[in-house]
Amino acid sequence: MTQYSIGLTDLDVATTGYVLSLDDLADYQGTDPAKYHLGLGQDCFSVPGADEDIVTLAATAASRLVARHPEHKITQLYFATETGVDQSKSAGVFVHQLLGLAPNVRTVELKQACYSATAALQLAVGHITRFPQEQVLVIASDIARYALDTPGEPTQGAGAVAMLVSAEPHLVALEPVTGFYTADVNDFWRPTDSSTPYVNGHLSLDAYLDATAGAYDDAMRRAPGLDLEDIDRFLHHQPFTKMARKAHRHLGQHLGVELDDALIEESMSVNRQLGNSYTASLYFALAAQLTNNAELARKRLGFFSYGSGSVAEFFTGVVQPGYTVHLDYLEHLQADLNARKTLSVEQYRQLHHSYRLDSDNYTTPTDTATSFRFAGVTDHVRQYETGLLPS
Ligand code: CAA
Repeated sequence: MTQYSIGLTDLDVATTGYVLSLDDLADYQGTDPAKYHLGLGQDCFSVPGADEDIVTLAATAASRLVARHPEHKITQLYFATETGVDQSKSAGVFVHQLLGLAPNVRTVELKQACYSATAALQLAVGHITRFPQEQVLVIASDIARYALDTPGEPTQGAGAVAMLVSAEPHLVALEPVTGFYTADVNDFWRPTDSSTPYVNGHLSLDAYLDATAGAYDDAMRRAPGLDLEDIDRFLHHQPFTKMARKAHRHLGQHLGVELDDALIEESMSVNRQLGNSYTASLYFALAAQLTNNAELARKRLGFFSYGSGSVAEFFTGVVQPGYTVHLDYLEHLQADLNARKTLSVEQYRQLHHSYRLDSDNYTTPTDTATSFRFAGVTDHVRQYETGLLPS
């Protein structure tokens, strides 16, 4: 049987039209801004307009990606999110329609807090193992929305990462190295009647660190030939970038070694400005890592995926020669971040208050220049519109 490498052959991203500066939030709260910049490692966060949601973000990121692959062989669309817009229908079905994909595609939504995109990626690898001529579109899209005036508020954010998984990938070949961890912890959860999570913040830090070490140990048990020194860069789930530093330090302590901060430094530039994007966050870290370093060919990346509740996975992938050729388009990433309109704290709080969890009839104002709009709800059905396609 022919052996294929399988992994990410292309990737694209999207974020919201609005941003809130943490200097402005700190000023409003009477908090020292250094707590956010240094203590959390965050500068600002993306805020969705009333006509943006996980579907519009996902469709924007995926349409950019699919436009580069007119001959694509996508037969699966796996949509990973914590921020589901329906208890039954997959958000992926809306995206399938907005992208104009063929009917013979399997579409499904996956959920486990910030972890589910990793499960989706591994399912994609499984599918390509059986059908190596096909491609899987994995989309991670989330809006981290905490209650106003809570400790989690400065760690909000939003974004989507679309990834095309195939045999003989151009970006990162995923290896069979993987380790798992599950523990029933009430660190962060969101009951179906609540638009914001219940959070035990300090417990969540400990749960994250325990899970990181547990998943790493399991991976090493399963891949006895692999050593810590074989991993050239570490990518962590980044609810706030300081968390990646804590996890990196904790892993070193767990293993009795000192790990160089340089091994994580290049992965944090995007999330510092984006905020938490839950299950997309690890893959924004990947986008930053690949964009910020052009010398990674054949280098091994170690991925730490964590989802509260809690589930974690550690896995590895090898960056493919020539990967930079396929990253030119990520230049728009910084441009998108810079193009976000800055909200005043009053405007942001008003937007936060106006969020609707119900499905009564309403229409949304056209207040952001989005390619895909959430137009509102009619007869309990969410309405989406296609605007100008992104450049
Ligand atoms: N200057 C510099 N640093 C300062 C400072 C100042 N003036 N004031 C405080 N700090 C530092 C503190 O020392 C602390 O740093 P260390 O943790 O390194 O000691 C940091 O700023 C934060 O300060 P506090 O711990 O006092 O902050 P807090 O209690 O108000 O909130 C939090 C912190 C609990 C993480 C809160 O933001 C939160 O609940 N966030 C949401 C939950 C979360 O993201 N958890 C992460 C793990 S769970 C996960 O990863 C899943 C997910 O995506 C949600």
